[in-house]
Amino acid sequence: MVNVKKIALVEGDGSGPEMMAQATRVAMAAAKKDNLDIEFVKTPMGWNAYHEFGDTLPAKSLEKAVELGIIFFGGVGDFKNDSTIGAEKPDMKPEARALLAIRKRMGLLLNFRPMIYFKSLAHISKVKPENIPEEGIKQIWIRFLLEDSYFGNVDLLAEIPENIREKIGVKLKKDVTGREAIVADIAYYRRETIVKYLRAAFAYARSVKLPVISIDKANVMARYDYWRKIATEVGKEFPDVPLTHQLVDSASALLFTPAKLHGVIACGNEHGDILSDGAASALGSMGMMCSSAINPETGAAMFESGAGTAPTLAGQDKANPLGRILTGALMLRHIGAVKGAAAIEEAVNRVLHDGYRSGDLFTATDDPRKVLGTSALGEKVLAQL
Ligand code: IPM
Ligand code: MG
Repeated sequence: MVNVKKIALVEGDGSGPEMMAQATRVAMAAAKKDNLDIEFVKTPMGWNAYHEFGDTLPAKSLEKAVELGIIFFGGVGDFKNDSTIGAEKPDMKPEARALLAIRKRMGLLLNFRPMIYFKSLAHISKVKPENIPEEGIKQIWIRFLLEDSYFGNVDLLAEIPENIREKIGVKLKKDVTGREAIVADIAYYRRETIVKYLRAAFAYARSVKLPVISIDKANVMARYDYWRKIATEVGKEFPDVPLTHQLVDSASALLFTPAKLHGVIACGNEHGDILSDGAASALGSMGMMCSSAINPETGAAMFESGAGTAPTLAGQDKANPLGRILTGALMLRHIGAVKGAAAIEEAVNRVLHDGYRSGDLFTATDDPRKVLGTSALGEKVLAQL
């Protein structure tokens, strides 16, 4: 019997729709290996949705996406609309209005960003070959995706008296005029959420038999001092999972000796945002990054690339779809289509091994005749499934 799974599809802005066209057809084909028919239900969000419906987060799209509980997300935002419409209507900027709102609404606590190192892309990696161990790299970032500086102002502003708010200069982004003497963001961690987050990260590390590397700035900041205490406390519940602590600044230096960051990396929202781009770029290209955001209690999840919408390449069939395609594999694994997930990862590996490249992956040692556009690269992956 064939099962049907409905998934909300946000094609997104910039090159999003072109990349998602490839990622969705690859995911649909791969899911068949697990007797699963995926039906994508379009839930437009972002500037493209604004142009059609007057809102970067149309209520109907949000309702449908929340109802379906699984979202395949092409990325929102592009600098042209951000600087024109966004300048007049800052509330409409889709990164906060759509992406952050969904993370919060669906309680997407864990942001998995597994860094996959492809041997065939060793020559574009910024890591010296001798720093890549023979057995490859297992660097699984799990970023804490709520609270922190991302949600502090929105979550806590109402609790701060007006005079104090003014004194410490807390501003919502839309209220920033550019003339303020002080502008502050509130960043916070709640015990309940970070305990839940850290337990999930340790449980995951245990399941894949990897140590936990916890990143913080405990030497100077209160919330990270707290984070380290809670991480140590939760770590005692998992005595079989080795735990080390790493300060964020030294962690960024270790991106270039990735064997020293071999494990499950637990980090705060803001640190994770910054370090995960660096990690992806150190190992290969941002275009290869895959990302999933998960509520460990309900199973609700959003699958995004984490790597932006490549707006300068939009409409030219040039953007690298492989990050989106690999994110599709994370999505299939999450919904139980494990054969399809593995098939996608192997297919991408094979396509790269055969020398095919997108523009961002091309170097002088590659064959220029094997540089493919977005759809042709998708086609190659599909053919390998
Ligand atoms: C990411 C992105 C987002 C973030 C932006 C678009 C809000 O950079 O997923 O890493 O900062 O979380
Ligand atoms: Mg980011």
